[in-house]
Amino acid sequence: MPIELIPRPVSVTEKTGGPFEIDDHTVLVATGRAEGAAWLLHDHLRAGTGLRTPVTDSADTNAITFGLAGDEPAPWTTAAEAYRIDVGHDAVHIEAAAPAGLIQAVHTLRQLMPADTLRAARVVRPPVQVPAVTIEDEPRFAWRGLMLDVARHFMPKSSVLRFIDLAAVHHLNVLHLHLTDDQGWRLPVPGWPKLTEISSWRTETVVGHAMDEKAYDGTPHGGYYTHDDLREIVAYAAARGVTVVPEVDLPGHVRSVLAAYPHLGNTGDHKPVATTFGIFSEVLAPTEEALRFCRDVFDTVAEIFPSDFVHIGGDECPRTEWLANETARARAAELGLSGPELLQSWFTRQFGRHLSTYDKTIVGWDEILDGGAPSDAVVMVWRDFDIAAQAIRKGHRVIVAPVQAAYLDYYPSDDPEEPLHIHGRITFEEIAGFEPVPEGADETAVLGVQAQLWTEYIRDSRRAEYNLFPRLVASADLAWSSADVRRAHPVAERLPAHVKRLDALGVNHRPLDGPHPWQQGGIGDNARFDPTGAERREVTDLPGM
Ligand code: ACM
Repeated sequence: MPIELIPRPVSVTEKTGGPFEIDDHTVLVATGRAEGAAWLLHDHLRAGTGLRTPVTDSADTNAITFGLAGDEPAPWTTAAEAYRIDVGHDAVHIEAAAPAGLIQAVHTLRQLMPADTLRAARVVRPPVQVPAVTIEDEPRFAWRGLMLDVARHFMPKSSVLRFIDLAAVHHLNVLHLHLTDDQGWRLPVPGWPKLTEISSWRTETVVGHAMDEKAYDGTPHGGYYTHDDLREIVAYAAARGVTVVPEVDLPGHVRSVLAAYPHLGNTGDHKPVATTFGIFSEVLAPTEEALRFCRDVFDTVAEIFPSDFVHIGGDECPRTEWLANETARARAAELGLSGPELLQSWFTRQFGRHLSTYDKTIVGWDEILDGGAPSDAVVMVWRDFDIAAQAIRKGHRVIVAPVQAAYLDYYPSDDPEEPLHIHGRITFEEIAGFEPVPEGADETAVLGVQAQLWTEYIRDSRRAEYNLFPRLVASADLAWSSADVRRAHPVAERLPAHVKRLDALGVNHRPLDGPHPWQQGGIGDNARFDPTGAERREVTDLPGM
């Protein structure tokens, strides 16, 4: 059988000689900081094959050996995840310069085994064969992300763990958790108890597309993660080579906060947590009290999430209230700003300063460029891919996550039988053909690439899987493999083999030959179909921006 891996490694050299057979006597050899990867493989083998494969510090034969060699590269470099696998008849040798590389090797080794070994319990009879091959590999980008919006529709912890597993299988290494938005707040913060009492729930949700706004479902929706839930998510992800990057979206997208604490807003109006979707004019007031709130939130974030990066949101922050409000205008003047429209930039700098005391680097959606952002802020480019080149010219590192190729909440095809999506269209082929480094740009300025799953119209994880797969396969391939490798080995050609793995993992993927009409929000619901995605890109035309 040909070796068809997702993503495609830098080099795959098939060898003569029999396969390595994992059986009742196989051991995993690892010591010190190599042990984590060995235990990860142990746990996967135990589940998928029933084999016990002990982790030991030496063995003569029938061993899978994990070794760390050379100087350890800095984190968030591509070298930190480079690895080499050598499979021979008698032994498998895995080598890397850092533990993160050994973990990526485990994810590759799992794909070298029969797809059925990816199941949660044994259906294949050992021994399990691994083809004789030498693989040398290193990612193209250090940040290979998946964003999950757990604010619009809350996802139970069990679903978040599942998506970490699915990300890791595809060599993605960042789970960006969008924890807060107008429709729900998922993070408890000491001193602000109403965030869980009030902000985490909405009374009901619009039915169909928000632009049509015909009816509401009358069903309360919400939830939040406890701090220990979040610590568990972080640790589960880390064991699989995935960093959880939390996002708290400020100073816009705060309807849920203002429902609980209206004094943090500009008008004092008491409006409920949002029950429909769109861009709301309510934003934080530029007061000391609002800043105290933000600092308390980021203190909590810094305590729970070890990630070097914290996402501060910053998207879709209308200036309407600041421009209209006398107090906000006076405050802007007092801060020495030329106008209230610079207040977002002021907020961003305050966040950056505060988080730098924890040695955290801020990431923000590309609107943080409006009015200027601290030069070390990482810009997550979404509104238009062209913004990546602009941000790089201004000296920022970027994460390429644009509507053109990375919004998996968009329709996967033009087929009218697709279930309801937000709008727009991004096909598997469009992602597979996307080149994420702007022409002429320094590739090292592109920290990474990321797929987005916004969940306005995605109510549960089953539907989330339908939106993500198989398109996330193409995203993962472009995040890991060089343009040359992708040209030489098109991901579409490897997809049929990979679907066997998705099926073994129980992924509710979209069928390769077209939509599945019985998904939630099926036929007849997609009146908002708009393949251009124009509605979403009109953000910059908002009054006051
Ligand atoms: C976004 O899609 N509002 C970042």
